[in-house]
Amino acid sequence: MTPPPTQPVLRLSDVVYGVAERQLLAGADLTVPAGRSVSVMGPSGSGKSTLLMCLMGLIRPEFGRVEVMGENLARLSPRALAAHRRRHIGMVFQFGELLPELTPVENVMIASLLAGDLADTARSRAEKLLHGLGVPHRTATQDLSGGERQRVAVARALVNTPELLADEPTGSLDGEHREAVADLLFSTPRDHGCALVVVTHDPAVASRADVRLHLHEGRLVQVEEAR
Ligand SMILES: Nc1ncnc2c1ncn2[C@@H]1O[C@H](COP(=O)(O)OP(=O)(O)O)[C@@H](O)[C@H]1O
Ligand SMILES: [Mg+2]
Repeated sequence: MTPPPTQPVLRLSDVVYGVAERQLLAGADLTVPAGRSVSVMGPSGSGKSTLLMCLMGLIRPEFGRVEVMGENLARLSPRALAAHRRRHIGMVFQFGELLPELTPVENVMIASLLAGDLADTARSRAEKLLHGLGVPHRTATQDLSGGERQRVAVARALVNTPELLADEPTGSLDGEHREAVADLLFSTPRDHGCALVVVTHDPAVASRADVRLHLHEGRLVQVEEAR
């Protein structure tokens, strides 16, 4: 079910979260409507990955509210939360964690299979995505380069066309592949009406988002365009 375009599908309100006496999130607010993209920049260690973990429901904030598709994550049982995440969230992890004993295609298919798709559908979608990203299908996962792994991780997040979160998805890519990954990520909200949050160090990637935010002292602040 795709909500009407104005309904926020990802929303954090007044989220507070700290580790080891350091407040990483100190009243963070974020609203991403369907079909829109947001980028988040900020220094290393400022809490960007932590922010995405809150949106995934992998971290429960000390204060504040996290909603995905209108569902308050704090109200879901662990089982319901896992199902909600599987169905609605695609995450590109910073280090593109893949399962080395599966082939690249299987690594992408698994997300689709877990969401309940038939194997043939899952396989053809996975192959198409990997082909589009220029990843060699037949290479064993452990023999892929860092950049190839990162692209497999992007394909896996995209296979169900869910709401998307991406943690530095272009960090280890060179120019051409960086463009291909960014093109695919940013076309997803446009083509499928999902919300996209991209954490990135790359100003060129950040500037492609509809809204550019900076994580500053635990809050998300809008970046003024330098024009
Ligand atoms: N579970 C944890 N225990 C202790 N420190 C943590 C934990 N998770 C994150 N941190 C620390 O919190 C800070 C922010 O982490 P992170 O959200 O990964 O930052 P970013 O993604 O912006 O680089 C870092 O200093 C990190 O070392
Ligand atoms: Mg990080």
